[in-house]
Amino acid sequence: MTNPVARPKIAARTLMLDLKVHRSGFSDPAFTENRTSGIHRWVPWIAGFSAAFVADAIDKHAPDGGLIVDPFAGVGTTLLETIRRGVAYEAIGFEINPYAAFAAQTKLDSLCLRVSEVLRAVDRFRAEAPTVTPASEPPGFRSRIPFYSPRVLPQVLHGLGWIHQIKSSKLRRLFLLAFGSVMVKLSNYSYEPSLTSRPGVGKALLEDADVYETIAEKVDHMAEDIASFQRDSLAPAMGTVHPRSWAVAEEVIDEASIQLIVTSPPYANNYHYLRNTRPHLYWLRFANSPDDLKAIEQGSFGKFWQTVRDLPPIPLTFEFPALEATLDTLRTLNTEKGHYGGGGWANYLATYFNDGYQFLKRTAHLLAPGGKAVIVIGNSIVQGLDIRTDEILAHLAESDAIGLTVESLEIARNKRVGNSIINSSVRTGPAKSATLYESILTLRR
Ligand SMILES: C[S@@+](CC[C@H](N)C(=O)[O-])C[C@H]1O[C@@H](n2cnc3c(N)ncnc32)[C@H](O)[C@@H]1O
Repeated sequence: MTNPVARPKIAARTLMLDLKVHRSGFSDPAFTENRTSGIHRWVPWIAGFSAAFVADAIDKHAPDGGLIVDPFAGVGTTLLETIRRGVAYEAIGFEINPYAAFAAQTKLDSLCLRVSEVLRAVDRFRAEAPTVTPASEPPGFRSRIPFYSPRVLPQVLHGLGWIHQIKSSKLRRLFLLAFGSVMVKLSNYSYEPSLTSRPGVGKALLEDADVYETIAEKVDHMAEDIASFQRDSLAPAMGTVHPRSWAVAEEVIDEASIQLIVTSPPYANNYHYLRNTRPHLYWLRFANSPDDLKAIEQGSFGKFWQTVRDLPPIPLTFEFPALEATLDTLRTLNTEKGHYGGGGWANYLATYFNDGYQFLKRTAHLLAPGGKAVIVIGNSIVQGLDIRTDEILAHLAESDAIGLTVESLEIARNKRVGNSIINSSVRTGPAKSATLYESILTLRR
C-alpha cells in the first residue's frame, strides 16, 4: 500500500442508492437502436449508447450550443449527434482504438461528400474491382484458422486493391470503412460478442461469399444515409476525433471550456476492444505487429486483466476505505485459482478505479463552470462481488480532490444476471442474485 497520507481522501459515506429512486427519463441508452439509425448504423460497436440518448442529453444540458466532448468516443455517436445541430456547436472526441477513431472521423467527414460521386464510384467498383491489381495481405496478421477461405481471400485482396487507388481521401476512407464494417462477416470468425472462430461456436466455415457485392451494398446504404442527412440537417458543425487517449486532452482543449460531456467509458468487465478489432487494425493497416498494439493496450482506460493480474498488489492512488475493504475481500477469494482468483481481479479493479479517478479529475479541470458530464456506466460482478462502478465514480467525483457535484444517478436499465465475460463459475456471498444494470451519472462543475 502507498502512504495513505499522500493520497486524497474519499469520504466513506453511505451508498447512494437513494438517488436511483426512479428509472431515468432519458431514452434507452442501448446502442442496439443505432443499428437501424442513419449513419450510426455504419459500424457496429459494443457497449455504446443510442443517438436518441445523446440528443436528449444535449437538449437538456446544452440547448444553446458550445463545445461537446466524448472522451471515449467509440464510433462517434456523441460527435455525430453534436455536429448535426449546426455551427453553434463543436464536437471533439478522443478514442484510443485507431479503427474506432477512424470510423468516427470518417462518419463526420463523409457528410459533405457528393452523393452522385459516391454512387458513380460504387458502379465502378462493381465493374472494375475483380480485375484490378490486388492488394497484399497484411504481413503481421496471424489467426488461428485461415481468416478468409480460399475463394473469399482473392476477392478481398482485389476489392482492397481497387479501394487503395481511389484518389479522393474522403471517398477512399468511406470505402475502407465499408470494408471494415463487413470484413468479419465475410471471414471465418464471428462476434459472440468476443471475436471467435466460426467452428469454435459450431458454425460452418464461410467457404464462399460475394465480397464485391457485400462491400458495394454497404456503400450504397452509406450513400443513402448521406443523402438523407444532407436533406434533413443543418450544415454540420466542426467535429474532430483525436486517435489518442483522453489522458492528453489538455494538449488540445482549454481549461474550463467544455459545455457538456456525453460518454460511456469502458465498463469494468474486461471487454477487450483491441483484441476484438485486431482484424480491422491489421487489414486497414493501423497495426503491423503486436508491438503496435502494446502501447494502445497500456494507454487504455482500466488496462486489461491480462496485463495486471500477475503484478504485486496494486494500491489505489486515493484513500477510499470502503473500496479498499472490498478489494481486500476480493484478494482473499479463490486464491487457489492462481491468477484467475481474486488477487488478479483486485489488481484489475484497482487499476480501473485509479484510471477512473484521473478521468474525473481531468473532467473537472476541463468542464466550464456549470458544465455537465453525462456518464453511462454499468456495474460488474467480479468473483461473486457486486462492484457498483457508478456509485464508486460518484463518490470519487464528489471528493474534495475533484470537487464535482453529483446531480443525479439514475438506473437506465437492468440487464440479465451474470456476466459472460468475467464471471467465473465460482460465485460466493451475497451477490449470488445480483443484477447487472447500467446507470446514468450526471455530474456538474
Ligand atoms: C463503451 S465504448 C464507447 C462507445 C461509444 N459511446 C459509442 O457510442 O460508440 C468505450 C471506448 O473507450 C475507448 N477507450 C479506452 N481507453 C481509452 C482512453 N484512454 N482514451 C480514449 N478512449 C479510450 C475504447 O477503445 C472504446 O471504444
